Amino acid sequence: MVSQRAAEVTPFLAMDVLERANAMDDVIHLEVGEPDFSPPERVFETAIDALRAGHTNYTAARGKPDLRRAIAAHYDREYGVDVDPDRIVVTPGTSPALLLAMAALVDPGDEVVLTDPHYACYPNFVRAVDGRVRTVPLRPSDGFQPRLADFDAAVTADTAALVLNSPANPTGAVMDGDTLAGLADIATAAEATPVVDEVYHGLSYDAAEHTMLEYTDDAVVLNGFSKRFAMTGWRLGWMVVPPALVDAVNRLAQNLLICAPNFVQEAGVAALETPSGRLQEIRETYRERRDRLVEAVTDWGLDLGYTPQGAYYLLADVSHLPGDSLDIATLLLEEAGVAVTPGVDFGSEAAGYLRFSYATDVEAIETAIARIERVLETELN
Ligand SMILES: Cc1ncc(COP(=O)(O)O)c(C=O)c1O
Repeated sequence: MVSQRAAEVTPFLAMDVLERANAMDDVIHLEVGEPDFSPPERVFETAIDALRAGHTNYTAARGKPDLRRAIAAHYDREYGVDVDPDRIVVTPGTSPALLLAMAALVDPGDEVVLTDPHYACYPNFVRAVDGRVRTVPLRPSDGFQPRLADFDAAVTADTAALVLNSPANPTGAVMDGDTLAGLADIATAAEATPVVDEVYHGLSYDAAEHTMLEYTDDAVVLNGFSKRFAMTGWRLGWMVVPPALVDAVNRLAQNLLICAPNFVQEAGVAALETPSGRLQEIRETYRERRDRLVEAVTDWGLDLGYTPQGAYYLLADVSHLPGDSLDIATLLLEEAGVAVTPGVDFGSEAAGYLRFSYATDVEAIETAIARIERVLETELN
């Protein structure tokens, strides 16, 4: 009864860990990918006003003109890039945008190149459209930055798309401009499309952020309100698509999604108009947490080998400890009451790692550090 496609979709272990952790008392959550901040107050007010004003009908599939203009203004303000609002399609989150991108670009049997490690859900999006995944390994000694030569070797005549993510989940690596430009060139030469997931933009600590749109218009760029504006459950995102793809993506959006929620789109305009000082404060808080966690992980003797520069994750190598990363995550959950994500979710290259999220307040992080230290000393020495 279940289709082969559905049968092949892998579970998201982070969610399994979360489910088990939620069933336990007194667990510190370092497995979560959700910001612990609230959206700006004006976002709530705008959404409530829009609801009361009855803005609850369908909108155009590509989104309300005000929001598409606000997104275009965001690219101008943040990166000095001119984006025609006609190239913007609003979606109910970055995940549906990824689905539209795959549906628009990938024919059955086409290859999609992913990095390994990668965001756990990417391969399942490729499978959903009957594409084939090809991976390019990333190395901690390179700070988990892609090597252009590896991408060059991975693309073939069958490659339809390169899915890239910066700042990256699960590594926290941020790609520099030269790397993005190089990847754009490789994609152009292979007649493939870069699909760049920029959902963690705004959350970078020591690295300048560049959008792929600075280097090419022939990319599909995905973004959303979940991370930068802490609006995970509001379900709002967008994609910027090459002019030649606008019509196809719009037709797919009309059929598969109808539209993003009307009143939430208005809240999105308010979010984009939030003064930058607030984000600056949030970024500083994340940076402090990152520094504390990096220090602790290094003290534990877990090799980090790189400095995560963005998002709110780091990957720590636990391959020298007894058991695999799932065993160690289970031990930390059961013995320390700290939930972390086993790396195997993120590709075979990450199988010997644990992902720590610092989207949790610093007091909880301090408690988690003390508890993990105790378990590492008593159980694993
Ligand atoms: C890399 C990456 N892309 C996309 C998403 C999903 O974003 P959204 O809530 O906008 O669908 C996540 C969520 O954790 C993510 O880590």
